[in-house]
Parts: sequence; structure tokens; C-alpha cells
Amino acid sequence: MTFKTLDSVDVSGKRALVRADLNVPVRDGRISDLTRIERLCPTIRELADKGARVIVCSHFDRPKGKRVPEMSLAPVAAALGDVLGRKVAFADDCIGPPAEAAVAALRPGDVAVLENTRYHNGEEANDPAFAAKLAALCDIFVNDAFSAAHRAHASTEGVAHLRSAYAGRLMQAELEALGAALLHPERPVMAIVGGAKVSTKLDLLGNLVARVQVLVIGGAMANTFLAAQGVAVGKSLQEAEMHATALDILAKAKAAGCEVVLPVDAVVAAEFKANPPTQTVAVSAVPADSMILDVGPASVAADIAKLGEVKTLVWNGPLGAFEIAPFDAATVALARAVADATQAGRLRSVAGGGDTVSALRHAGVIERMSYVSSAGGAFLEWMEGKTLPGVAALG
Ligand code: 3PG
Ligand code: MG
Repeated sequence: MTFKTLDSVDVSGKRALVRADLNVPVRDGRISDLTRIERLCPTIRELADKGARVIVCSHFDRPKGKRVPEMSLAPVAAALGDVLGRKVAFADDCIGPPAEAAVAALRPGDVAVLENTRYHNGEEANDPAFAAKLAALCDIFVNDAFSAAHRAHASTEGVAHLRSAYAGRLMQAELEALGAALLHPERPVMAIVGGAKVSTKLDLLGNLVARVQVLVIGGAMANTFLAAQGVAVGKSLQEAEMHATALDILAKAKAAGCEVVLPVDAVVAAEFKANPPTQTVAVSAVPADSMILDVGPASVAADIAKLGEVKTLVWNGPLGAFEIAPFDAATVALARAVADATQAGRLRSVAGGGDTVSALRHAGVIERMSYVSSAGGAFLEWMEGKTLPGVAALG
């Protein structure tokens, strides 16, 4: 994976088109998490301070080629200005006269944000004519949107072929951290994969068993693995149609010398609601009218013991139904052990994926991990071993 960084270009006076990921979460009309905006700031500040004319573009939500007013980037641009502590101009289209006028008005060190790229069908279609219009606005292209790099769109992929293209600082940090976790890690490597379904993480599990030495499986997908091996899991969420696939993954792991760690005990309840009556049972003793909602304490202790044997950890997916107490217990306990080992210098820990980040934030360990990716789908595809088009186009 080779890419040029901002170290290899003199940006002074140049018009730099920065592909950001301003696809921020919004709740009740307000931005509920500023992480993506905060992580973008170093690249923008560096370019502006070096005298570039900075033009920021991004998609926002999925307007499917139409001008959906609720999906305007205008309020996000204002939030970016607040976080940057600088004036940020806004162009109400990402191509054509509004964009051209905004760019023409920029002096060295100024910043402008362009309206949602997905207001145009050419974005998702990766239409060469649309990419050429974006390219016409700039002298160089800087991609700082690792979290959108799994999309082969005009602003992530097409335009990169039309101008000298560089990784921004956030893109660079993501690629370096993820590379150190899976491409050239210090071994042994352990992966923790949780979440609801085997079916959505098949490629991920397939890639991991060939790359890591220990694979901890949690979440409802662990139920599918247990059931496939003949364990009665009661009313637990599981995918009966994935049993053969689960056994196949276990066989592949065995052949590759990857140890798969499944839960040995579980916290069960009759209903999925907050603070119901619960029991902790061996996985072989799940009552027929109960469902597994979290990994049990003996399993967590075993996972923590395994942590002591590895040098690198990649984590995607919570161990239990962490949104509802007390089913966050296993995820929180393991997250804290990971953070402690990281801080003690014994472990490099990398995590990513939407739910995973929420779970780690809930556990209060985000700042104590080696790296937490800002990407959801892109992190998953990267862990699956896939080439991300936005990254490939920088090579
Ligand atoms: C994300 O939020 O994961 C990225 O911004 C990509 O968004 P998309 O799934 O709508 O392409
Ligand atoms: Mg998404």
C-alpha cells in the first residue's frame, strides 16, 4: 500500500480539494457526534497554514441525486467553522457557477465547504464528466475520507485520477494504524468479532482465520456457532441457515492454526428489555424459554487471559446486547482490560465499526486504545481484506 502524504507536496497558493467525510450523525436536527469533524481539522489547518486555498467536499446521507434540503451540508459547514475556529465559506452546489465563485473568492489560507456531492447522480455513478467538474475546481486532490473509501464514487475515486492525489493526515493515520494491526502486525494477533449475524460478517471471519492466531467470537453470532455444534441455545437469536457455514469457518480456522474462542457461559433472560431477571449459566445449560443476551463472566475471564498472550488486537462488534443494562457487562469488562494492557505497553489495540465505537465509548476507553477508527463500513471491508477503491486510487 503506497500513497503520497502532505509531506511530499508544496501546497502554497494551490487550490486543494479535500475529500472529507462530513457524513456526521444527526439526532433531532442537531449533530450528535463531532468526532469526524474534529478528526478532519488537522488536515485543513495544515493546508491552510501552508497557504493553500482549501476546498472541502463530502457526501451527507443518501439523497440519491436529488437536492433533499434536510441533507444539506450547510449546518455541518457551520459546525466545522466552529470547531476549526476559523471562517468557513459555503457554496450551495459542489460544481458549476456556485462552486466556481466560492473557489475564485478564496485567498491563500481560506477554507470553503461545497454542498453535498450526492445531490448529483454523477457522484455515486462515478461519472467521468462529474469528476472532471470537481477536478476543474482544484490543482491537487487530498483524500481524508478513509471512512468513505469503500465507495468508488467520483469524489473518492474518479477525481483522484485527474489530479495529483495525496492522503490527508486522517487518511494517513487510519492506514498506518490499520496496517500495523493486520498487514504487518506484531504477532500473535487476536481478533474479537461480535455482532448479531454471521451472514453479515462471513468475509470478515474468512479473512481473519487466515491472518490471526486467536479469534474470539461473541455477540449473537456466537449463538450460531454454538448451535451449529449441537448446543441448545433456547430462544436466542441465531441463524439456522448459517450452521454449515459456521462449521466451515471452524474447519478453516483449524487448518490455518487459528484458535477460535467461543463463550463457555452466558447471561440469559426470558425477555430482551432493560434489567429483567437474569441467570448466568453454562452454554450447555441455556433454558429452553431463555435467550443469551451477553457473554458470561467465565468467558470474559478466559478472553482476558488470552489477551495476555498476544501483542496485537483488532476488535469489531460488541460481545453482548450492550445498549441495554446489564448486557453491557462483558463488553465493558473486556474493553477495560484491553485499555489497561494497551496503556501498560503490552498490547497494540485497534478497533472500528459503528457499534464497536459506541460500545467502547460507553466503556469509557476510546482514549486508551491505540487507535479507534472513524470508519464503519470501510473498516469492515478493510478487515475483510478487500481493496478500498478510494485508497487504491491514491497509489
Ligand atoms: C459512513 O458513514 O459509513 C460513510 O460516510 C459512508 O456512507 P454511506 O454508507 O452512505 O456510503
Ligand atoms: Mg454508512
